[in-house]
This record gives sequence, structure tokens and C-alpha cells, in this order.
Amino acid sequence: MAKVSSERKPLIIGNWKMNGMSATSRALTRELMQALHNHDACEVVLCPPFTALTQVRELISGTNMRLGGQNGFPADKGAFTGEVSMAMLRDVGCDYVLVGHSERRQHLAEDDGFIARKVFAASGHGLTPVLCVGESREVRLAGESERFVLRQVETGLSMLPHGASFVVAYEPVWAIGTGLAATTHDANAMLSSVRAWLCEKRGILAPNFNLLYGGSVDSSNITDFIAQSDIDGALVGGASLNAQAFAAVVLGAARGHTCTNK
Ligand code: PGA
Repeated sequence: MAKVSSERKPLIIGNWKMNGMSATSRALTRELMQALHNHDACEVVLCPPFTALTQVRELISGTNMRLGGQNGFPADKGAFTGEVSMAMLRDVGCDYVLVGHSERRQHLAEDDGFIARKVFAASGHGLTPVLCVGESREVRLAGESERFVLRQVETGLSMLPHGASFVVAYEPVWAIGTGLAATTHDANAMLSSVRAWLCEKRGILAPNFNLLYGGSVDSSNITDFIAQSDIDGALVGGASLNAQAFAAVVLGAARGHTCTNK
């Protein structure tokens, strides 16, 4: 069940994680804008830290680039010291929000139920949730990857209203920040299973969603990932922190898309 997306652009999301002061965030954004020249063969989303969202938004307004939050809290407002709501992200110009990134699952003990509430809240505020899923090395070695990932998808999307847009990013934990990307075959097989599950169990078909691969994506592998039948784009960490490297990923994705005429 391949994507039906010849007219759809690859979606490339840059996750800056906890990196970037005001000056460096502005410089990175400016350099990227110069390198891409308002390139529109891909949908490019920047996810800077909360503290740089407004500055990045001001720079990219009027371009094709979009803004995303790296996290958001499910309640709209109130006594949740230190949290930022989905409504607030929307208010500063975000169109996307990452939900359930493995670093938050690991370091902040976020569980699938909490993540499902975030997906619901994001969607309710007009944000496209990017649900991050992926197995650990132990789960992989036990041969349980597909079952584990499909369960994360099922629970994570359990509160999503019918017809709402979303993104699933398959990011095997062992591939994040290690330089050891999944093989294109394995990444495509997992996303093919996710696509089939969405269709058969939930009756959801493209173009309501995009399926991304993430984990050590760079300019050397992006073209091959995008050329796969079930990979609609990429979630990029380390390589998004350098404008030339990230621009090369975006251009490589456009090439992969054109080559296969998807
Ligand atoms: P990486 O990170 O590209 O540095 O592996 C990806 C991610 O964590 O989203």
C-alpha cells in the first residue's frame, strides 16, 4: 500500500532540540533561507527551542518555511509551571508540534496516554501533531519492533478526531544521534506497516497524514529514504543545526522525490 502522493512534497522537519541562543538561531535561519532561496519542492518545518520561536517566525514569515514546537502541554492554560500549551504555540505562529519524541519519553517519563492527550490538544488548536514512535535496541533485538511501534501509533492516535491531519515519525531510538541510520529497507518496511495499519484498522488514507523516517538522516542518505514507497519525509536532528547540511538534506529529498516521480 504505497503512498498516493505524486503531487505531494516531501516533508522535512528540522528538530533543533535544546540548541541555539537568540543570535545563533537567527543566524542559522538566515543562512538556511539564503541556501534554499525559497525552495518549494519540499515542505520545510523548523522546530527551534521555545525561546527562539518568535525570532525564527519573524524571519521566515513570507517564505515557504513553517514553524513547529518541539513539545506542548495538553491543557490550554493554568497552573502548570514551566509548561507551554498548544494554544500558545499556535499563537506564536506554529503549524506543527512534535509529540512523544523518544528523548522526552526517556528523560521526562512521558507515556503513551499523556502523549495521546497532547495529540488531541494539538489538533484541537489547529496544529499538526508529529507523533514520534520508535523501538529501543532491546526491543529490536527481541524481534518485537513492529508490534511495539504499532502499539505506540495506536495509543498515540487514540484521541485524534476523525479527519484530522497528523504525521507519524518513525525514529528508532538506536538510530537517533548515533550516525547509524536504519536501512532504507527496514525504515520503509516499518512505515509500510504503519500505513497499512492506519488504513485497515482506522480507515485513514493519505493525504490525511505523512509518514517520516528519523534517526541520523543527512545529505548522504536522504535521497534513498525519500525514494522509498512509504517514506514521505524526514525528521532531522543533528544535520538541521548546520544550514548547509540541512539545505543539502532538503535538496536531496527533492531529488529523491523527483527521481521516483512520487
Ligand atoms: P538525529 O535526530 O537526526 O540527530 O539522529 C533525530 C531526532 O531526534 O529527531
